[in-house]
Amino acid sequence: MNYFEYRDGEMVVENKKISDIADSVGTPFYLYSSASLAYQYNQFKEAFGDIDLLICYAVKANTNQAVIKTFADLGAGADVVSEGEMRRALKAGIPASKIVYSGVAKTVQEMTYALEQGIFQFNVESEPELYQLSQVADNLGKTANITFRVNPDVDAKTHAKISTGKSENKFGVPWKNVRALCADAAKLPGIKLVGLDLHIGSQITELDPFEEAFTRVCDLVEVLREDGHDLTRLDLGGGLGIPYEGDDFPPLPREYAEMVKRVTNHLGCKIIIEPGRFLVGNAGVLVSKVVYVKKGEERKFLIIDAAMNDLVRPSMYDAYHGIDPIKESDQERTLYDVVGPVCETGDTFATNRLIEPMESGDLLAIRSVGAYGAVMSGTYNTRKLIPEVLVNNDEFAVVRPRPSYDDIIGLDQLPPWLSK
Ligand code: LLP
Repeated sequence: MNYFEYRDGEMVVENKKISDIADSVGTPFYLYSSASLAYQYNQFKEAFGDIDLLICYAVKANTNQAVIKTFADLGAGADVVSEGEMRRALKAGIPASKIVYSGVAKTVQEMTYALEQGIFQFNVESEPELYQLSQVADNLGKTANITFRVNPDVDAKTHAKISTGKSENKFGVPWKNVRALCADAAKLPGIKLVGLDLHIGSQITELDPFEEAFTRVCDLVEVLREDGHDLTRLDLGGGLGIPYEGDDFPPLPREYAEMVKRVTNHLGCKIIIEPGRFLVGNAGVLVSKVVYVKKGEERKFLIIDAAMNDLVRPSMYDAYHGIDPIKESDQERTLYDVVGPVCETGDTFATNRLIEPMESGDLLAIRSVGAYGAVMSGTYNTRKLIPEVLVNNDEFAVVRPRPSYDDIIGLDQLPPWLSK
């Protein structure tokens, strides 16, 4: 559920007019709804009932402090993939005892930092990583709780660039190596093997791939227990998809949770899940202004003030995002290509899209951008990073301001031989 809707002829978020925020902040900007964030989190939590569950928000989806703090206050843990993300999670109030550390390339520095903070668990993805972590933990006189992220070789039936659970992907320990690696782990100093982990991909819109993978991993837990390992945790990763187009109906959290319980209950493990997109995706829109309406020879272009550097998903994954005018209109919709100012044809948000007629100066919302929107933005074409705004009922606050040009250009430094 999201709280963006038309009221009295214009789009509001919760109890705030989007046009008022645009007047105050300027366009383009990301706009998030607190109520939507909380609704999504609570839906997930309630779906699982009172099983032993830790929801670790995958902060990579949206790392804004205000977003992480919203989830921290609701009791969430975090899934992080870098020291930077761990620092953000801690700063927003998520204790290290609720943070899991994923990723294929954890460095010595990152392992040290996480251990010093008292991290809950490392999800280890390879043999060299296991040996490295053992050495680091042993040197620090600490014990690292680890799961092995296993690669179940399951097709998640999602976009190839965000599918992670096939044997050809770089992620996880190959299935056939898991038993031997667990035996190694049991002998290593500084390591305590506590469970298994998997993450098969993102924007998964069917339950079957999850169920197939979870079933395989549960069977493996039993085999490993017979080998003598005391496995008490099962980390099922993230990946539950969200509706992007009106007719998309990914599984509901209730359906997902019921399946998880059915497949895993007999093991009595603590369940960890790492949802990102589900918690934040539909809680955000990108508000942009039409700069020009240009009639090309074959197409009509809505040229807007947001660009691929602000939201890369359409050009990177051919992702679909709904686009709606802020002012409600009952005029017959017309076909547009919605494009940005960047000097690349790939700077296109939608092609041949039916939208209500718009004019220069009109505002529009690009929907479902709360996940993997702002976090993947950049300053290509020396465009400023765009602000992020959070609404709470009838209040709003800028939660990341727009930098100045001096802020951006000032990051460069001339070498001595050019500064004379
Ligand atoms: N856990 C791990 C280990 C992950 O790698 C990811 C996402 C998640 C959890 C969260 O997955 P989610 O619940 O959000 O699907 N930039 C891409 C998505 C990349 C996802 C990477 N890993 C996009 O814009 O679609």
